[in-house]
Amino acid sequence: ASEAEEHDVVVIGGGPGGYVAAIKAAQEGLKTACVEKRGSLGGTCLNVGCIPSKSLLNNSHIYHQILHDVKNLGDVKLNLTQMMNAKEQSVSGLTKGIEYLFKKNGVDYVKGTGTITSEHEIKVGPLDGGGPQTLRAKNIIIATGSEATPFPGLEIDEKRIVTSTGAIALTQVPEKMVVIGGGIIGLEMGSVWSRLGSDVTVVEYLGAIGGPGMDAEMAKTMQRILQKQGMKFKLNTKVMGGDVGSDNIKINVESAKGGKSESIDADVVLVAIGRRPYTTGLGLENVGIEVDERGRIVIDQEYRTKIPHIRVIGDVTFGAMLAHKAEEEGIAAVEYIKKGYGHVNYRAIPSVMYTHPEAAWVGQTEQEVKATGEAYNIGSFPFSANSRAKTNLDTEGMVKFITDKETDRILGIHIIGPNAGEMIAEGVLAMEYGASSEDIGRTSHAHPTLSEAFKEAAMAAFSKPIHA
Ligand code: FAD
Ligand code: NAI
Repeated sequence: ASEAEEHDVVVIGGGPGGYVAAIKAAQEGLKTACVEKRGSLGGTCLNVGCIPSKSLLNNSHIYHQILHDVKNLGDVKLNLTQMMNAKEQSVSGLTKGIEYLFKKNGVDYVKGTGTITSEHEIKVGPLDGGGPQTLRAKNIIIATGSEATPFPGLEIDEKRIVTSTGAIALTQVPEKMVVIGGGIIGLEMGSVWSRLGSDVTVVEYLGAIGGPGMDAEMAKTMQRILQKQGMKFKLNTKVMGGDVGSDNIKINVESAKGGKSESIDADVVLVAIGRRPYTTGLGLENVGIEVDERGRIVIDQEYRTKIPHIRVIGDVTFGAMLAHKAEEEGIAAVEYIKKGYGHVNYRAIPSVMYTHPEAAWVGQTEQEVKATGEAYNIGSFPFSANSRAKTNLDTEGMVKFITDKETDRILGIHIIGPNAGEMIAEGVLAMEYGASSEDIGRTSHAHPTLSEAFKEAAMAAFSKPIHA
């Protein structure tokens, strides 16, 4: 073992939470190391999550659009190998970009598995198989992320029974795909393969798609749109198990309310029933740090475990499992270390589902507002009445504002539509500033843009839209 090296901050995990925390800490003048065992930086998000999935979503959308919507513009053939190459290129460009940022900011990038051995010590088992290295740290930030939740009885091989990791790397388009779980991964990856020609059936235990936190009206609208695109849905349906034969898989399902059972054939099964915190090999037991019943590391408001200089951010602890949420926490945790204060506004974290059209939302859903018993207004505007959407022949979806009836303050914004993921940024900013729908409705939006639908939905909440 080499001589223990002293750092102000050692971050364990180099995903969006960890790498952002490490760069921020170095920028604050703290001597910082980041330990990552994957062999590349960027975590789940850059390597097997956000980035590769968006590459496939973008290219499969272009393919599908030319094939189905604007056929008369020309013919198109799928080159799946090339599509996968484009994905690899995006991933490697971005992960190497973070290595560059580490160098630029003076973050020590330590490759290997980090195990906390005592309150100020981390042992790193290096990737190259050499002897372990010990890092000493005044502060430790844990950012070890999450992993796919397995489905009992269906063994993942990442070829035929896959998680999202296998689903972004299939070498041929499956004829039939069953997706277990109609949440964000199921709908995004289901969309990719459905657009490329698979017969996709999504089996969802609950009565609505979209996973937790989606507005019920939006979830219904999205389901209708995806059905029109060819995806099939079995809601209120329980997967009982599967029979994996040498050339066919049978997934056995039953109505969640009991009774009727059937089996669905598949070549590939995607298990997308959620993700769980990842702490294997981290050594929490060596220092007595607790996890809750769902495996999340327990922390206080300042991201501290019961050992105050060991903080935790991102997917491995509470809250939405989103890259930008992990990043905000990374910054805040470092600010607590350096300055003693930091802040994340959890009421204004956007969610985006990158289907086509996209779905994006921020704040409360209508069902949540209704449950509070407070009076509210709804203002909505369809893209079918927006000039740019009509020109682009891309008119599915709508913008919906939920506002406080008395004060007009915005409580939630929900969008289904082209570029919803970009458009929601205006809504997030509005909520950060405590805006009313009238603030947005009286703000000039360029013509002809999709964001005029955003303005008109705001107008609909406090007055009337012009074009509907
Ligand atoms: P992670 O990104 O999981 O990073 C943790 C890192 O820690 C990993 O690289 C791991 O190797 C490393 N590690 C773990 N233990 C150790 C150890 N003991 N020593 C050293 N290293 C260790 N979110 C979005 O916001 N937008 C999206 O579009 C989006 N798309 C997604 C698509 C898919 C298919 C998936 C699976 C997820 C997607 N997510 C998306 C979620 C997003 O990837 C996560 O919320 C985000 O990566 C969490 O960041 P993190 O830093 O907490 O953890
Ligand atoms: P999820 O929590 O979004 O959805 C899982 C779905 O599976 C839920 O609808 C749930 O009811 C259903 N389910 C659970 N058990 C089931 C069972 N036994 N049978 C049938 N259905 C079952 O989880 P998902 O899609 O796996 O994604 C994991 C995380 O990754 C999410 O928390 C999400 O935040 C993140 N992510 C974010 C993306 C984005 O921001 N665009 C993209 C992909 C993932």
